[in-house]
Amino acid sequence: MQAQYEYTMGKELDLKAEQEKTLQTPVMKANIILKSMYVAMDLIYGAKRTLPKFKVIEILARYPYWAWENGSYHRLSRRYARANYAEENASEQSLRHIELGRRAQDNEQSHLMLIEDIMRQKGIKQNWLMSCFMPRCMIFGYLLLTRTLYRLKPEWSFDMNARFESHAEHEYMHLVEEHPEWENEPIDSPYFKYYPKQETTADLFRRIGLDERDHMTQSMEEYERLTGRMLI
Ligand SMILES: [Fe+2]
Ligand SMILES: [Fe+2]
Repeated sequence: MQAQYEYTMGKELDLKAEQEKTLQTPVMKANIILKSMYVAMDLIYGAKRTLPKFKVIEILARYPYWAWENGSYHRLSRRYARANYAEENASEQSLRHIELGRRAQDNEQSHLMLIEDIMRQKGIKQNWLMSCFMPRCMIFGYLLLTRTLYRLKPEWSFDMNARFESHAEHEYMHLVEEHPEWENEPIDSPYFKYYPKQETTADLFRRIGLDERDHMTQSMEEYERLTGRMLI
């Protein structure tokens, strides 16, 4: 029997209590690829948690989901371009990964738009090297990596993504902890037409952190569905 996985999306929750829950829970262990990525980001953007750094995390976060969508469509194409008729359950797995990938990609895109808008509102300057050149280099590497992992063995991709999202969840909750002034800072953005409206900057980042927790949970659930083993 598969383990029970709980999600926070669409639920009325005490965001502060959920932040506490995250901070009391250990981060999932990163693999060597992720560890190198975090070191590279600290070297490029500094060790401190800053909004430009979170913006880059959000740019990268969409790529595994794109790989699931894109890779699954490739699989479907191959399956339907054969003399034999396709099996229903094999197509179902691809359709499930496409759906998971699309939903999470849109959610990450909302995070990205909101963070950039907050940076604009706060007057944070972006230079060409850090906001354009470096992210493009990282995108290139991460795009190749996430596509290759998913094509070779989908469970490798779900494993790595759960670890990346666990890290992101904790980073957001620590970011809020480091900014007590955000607790009473009202927030508004035109991008709330794509995302549940939050009243303060602190609550917005807590809600984003919970989305990352849900992304981690989805990856863990799918890993177990594919392998029959729980991801630890
Ligand atoms: Fe995100
Ligand atoms: Fe995420």
